[in-house]
Amino acid sequence: MEKQWWKDAVVYQIYPRSFMDSNGDGIGDIPGITAKLDYLTALGVEVVWLSPVYQSPNDDNGYDISDYRAIMDEFGTMEDWERMLDEMHKRGIRLVMDLVVNHSSDEHPWFVEARKSKDNPYRDYYVWRDGKNGREPNNWESFFSGSVWEYNEPTGDYYLHLFSKKQPDLNWENEKVRSEVYELMKFWLDKGVDGFRMDVINMISKVPGLPDGNVEPGSEYASGAQYYMNGPRVHEFLQEMNEQVLSRYDIMTVGETGGVTPEHGVLYTNPERKELNMIFQFEHMDVDSGPLGKWDVAPLDLVRLKKILAKWQTDLHGRGWNSLYWDNHDQPRVVSRFGDDGKYRVESAKMLATCLHFMQGTPYIYQGEEIGMTNVQFPSIEDYRDIETINMYNERIAKGFDQVELMKGIHAKSRDNARTPMQWDERENAGFTDGTPWIGVNPNYHEINAKQAMEDKNSIFYYYKELIAMRKRLPIMVEGSFELIHEDSTSLFAYLRHYENETLLVLNNFTADELTVEWPDSLSGLKGERLIGNYEDVESRSADGETNLRPWESIVYHFRK
Ligand code: NOJ
Repeated sequence: MEKQWWKDAVVYQIYPRSFMDSNGDGIGDIPGITAKLDYLTALGVEVVWLSPVYQSPNDDNGYDISDYRAIMDEFGTMEDWERMLDEMHKRGIRLVMDLVVNHSSDEHPWFVEARKSKDNPYRDYYVWRDGKNGREPNNWESFFSGSVWEYNEPTGDYYLHLFSKKQPDLNWENEKVRSEVYELMKFWLDKGVDGFRMDVINMISKVPGLPDGNVEPGSEYASGAQYYMNGPRVHEFLQEMNEQVLSRYDIMTVGETGGVTPEHGVLYTNPERKELNMIFQFEHMDVDSGPLGKWDVAPLDLVRLKKILAKWQTDLHGRGWNSLYWDNHDQPRVVSRFGDDGKYRVESAKMLATCLHFMQGTPYIYQGEEIGMTNVQFPSIEDYRDIETINMYNERIAKGFDQVELMKGIHAKSRDNARTPMQWDERENAGFTDGTPWIGVNPNYHEINAKQAMEDKNSIFYYYKELIAMRKRLPIMVEGSFELIHEDSTSLFAYLRHYENETLLVLNNFTADELTVEWPDSLSGLKGERLIGNYEDVESRSADGETNLRPWESIVYHFRK
């Protein structure tokens, strides 16, 4: 099979607003990114996924686009962007842009036109329905609280917005919308971009009739997800996009797809189906949520986490391709979430990296993960900027929820945990800006920053660097099959990878307790060599087919027959 460059590469995600500010306005920008490219080269990443940098009123920090062919003023100019791309390519770094086409901004000229009258030529670019019994057309709930419908005065009906009311859903049933999308994709591809991360791409096809969902007791709205996730025409649309655009370029594509099973995963990513290269699934992001969802914070259920990831590993092996991630701009920081961001911050961050990077798929690193950045606990809702967090808080306060409990949920789960400025050094504002940052800096930047990490050969940064380099060297990391072992352990995440006559044994202690791990019988008689581990002292921890793991310790052994 033809070797695909995105299979042994590691992707680094940049959230531009929070990465590096070059002009003192407190907002990260494109020249700031260009100035930090040598940092990425030092880490060894080969691909950057850049969250949206297009013109946007920033209701949802760029995920609401008002001009798909222009750069956001706050981020710089098209010339700045071209220079950044050039500098990336010179360093052998490829650029994957964010493609947000389930919805546009309500300030996009298409929508500005569409909302004017029922006979406007752009009307059918969006999804419109009449109200029902003096209420919204159906009972679906928006991801950002409240109904998915917004009343539009001039036309006397409602438009659909799965996200904020400033993010109206585009109507993919309309051929013209699809060809507009393909044209704007070609615009960027012809400028030399190396791929797309496709925002909520499995939501572009809605079930005709947009039926009501089931309302859970105590709720006003229903999820409706079954009527817009993995909808009836989504594969047809992606195959059309592939045929008309993707197949004509040497690029990588990753679809953001909530609510998918591995069977969906195969449909989206099996190469013979000609849709996408890989997807982001979200099942493993729910393992610390209680029955009431994301804000109902529960302790990590490790057995469930392992089960989910193992299922994705085995079900996609040879049939599709996984993305591997713990963090992104929508998720809390993993070292705070599944690790220990206190005493064992460094050990647990490295353990989590090991656990993820030895699986099959393309790993993603979210800015700051490589230095072990942690969640933040801002004292007041006034300190938060994220629309999801703020809307949820206001809605629940109005319903009489307890403020202290709400803040606890926000501290654990708010998307702003990932969006505090990148911590570059110990200067004011972590070296991110000379001005006032658009969102507070995590006060721990004196201890946690990139400069310090680069000066310490045992830092989390260099550990990631080694993992990235190892993936290039060892085909087993890329190609090997996956076998979960000790699946019932509530402390240990252990697995094997098998490839030709080699095996990897990957042991990860998810606790601060010491553990003794027995090796599986299949390894008896073989001699393993320690490949990597997160404790500096590498004295042999194993004897007679077992390993003693210290708090949050990770060890990987490589066996050859
Ligand atoms: C997923 C993006 O990752 C998130 O940040 C955004 O709010 C929604 N899609 C809507 O575009």
